[in-house]
Amino acid sequence: MTPVLAVNHLSVTLQSGKNTKQLVKDSSFSVYPGECLGILGESGSGKSMTVKSMLGLLDRHFSATGEAFFCGKDLLKEKKETLRSLRGKDITMVLQNPMTCFDPLYRIGNQMAETFATHTNWSQKEIREESLAILDRMQIQNPKVALEKYPHQLSGGMLQRIMIGLAVALKPKLLIADEPTTAIDAITQKEILEAFLEIKNAHQTAMIFITHDLGAIAKVADRLLVMNQGEIVDEGTFSHILHHAQDRYTKLLIEKRQAVMARYQQVLGGMV
Ligand SMILES: Nc1ncnc2c1ncn2[C@@H]1O[C@H](COP(=O)(O)OP(=O)(O)O)[C@@H](O)[C@H]1O
Ligand SMILES: [Mg+2]
Repeated sequence: MTPVLAVNHLSVTLQSGKNTKQLVKDSSFSVYPGECLGILGESGSGKSMTVKSMLGLLDRHFSATGEAFFCGKDLLKEKKETLRSLRGKDITMVLQNPMTCFDPLYRIGNQMAETFATHTNWSQKEIREESLAILDRMQIQNPKVALEKYPHQLSGGMLQRIMIGLAVALKPKLLIADEPTTAIDAITQKEILEAFLEIKNAHQTAMIFITHDLGAIAKVADRLLVMNQGEIVDEGTFSHILHHAQDRYTKLLIEKRQAVMARYQQVLGGMV
């Protein structure tokens, strides 16, 4: 099978004055159709840099080398305009803080309509129908009312579900979610993860799911990469990683998570 994305020897370097700092070191990985690749690592390990560099989202202080083939095109060699037109259509993103993805001054419905007007040739009527369908699919109550709301009138979890719905409705070849549950409370996190699971089952979209949360990634990712200080230090299915982690750092992440779970169960047990 041909991968949707094939990254070879990707390195990202930051130049500040005379100093250079390597933020991503010789990363190679692929994502296949219908697969969800998880990228797990602590804050600052280079997860966001990995995807931002491919999408042309870094300024001139950063330089990226290597290859990132997406549908036959090496993204690292494409012009900014080409990357801009790929983003939002062939490659869509769901980011950490849904509040920053919406303009506070415009109603949700208008913002969804604008996105569709930019990336599709749908009529006004089709756009409205699809917008309502997305809200319905993402289990937002009273879709017609929700379209009339401003972002601050909806919860973070609702906004994030709308972002996910939009990101999927554009039928991208690749969906990248960068810490989509991090800024969201635990109860809503569960709903967000369920939304991703549904997408995976229904659409066969290739996905990259970035998180520092082992629990979140265990639910959605088919295969995962573990990053530490800019390097991929482990790779495999969740159960493989859980039982055969090669890297000291990965083992630490797993132990930390298991300690949290044990404590959680103790507290719950104490309450019963
Ligand atoms: N704008 C920036 N200027 C300088 N260093 C940065 C910048 N953004 C990120 N970094 C550095 O790059 C490294 C990787 O960052 P990032 O990819 O955002 O980590 P992650 O997404 O895994 O939390 C970190 O060490 C961070 O300090
Ligand atoms: Mg990040």
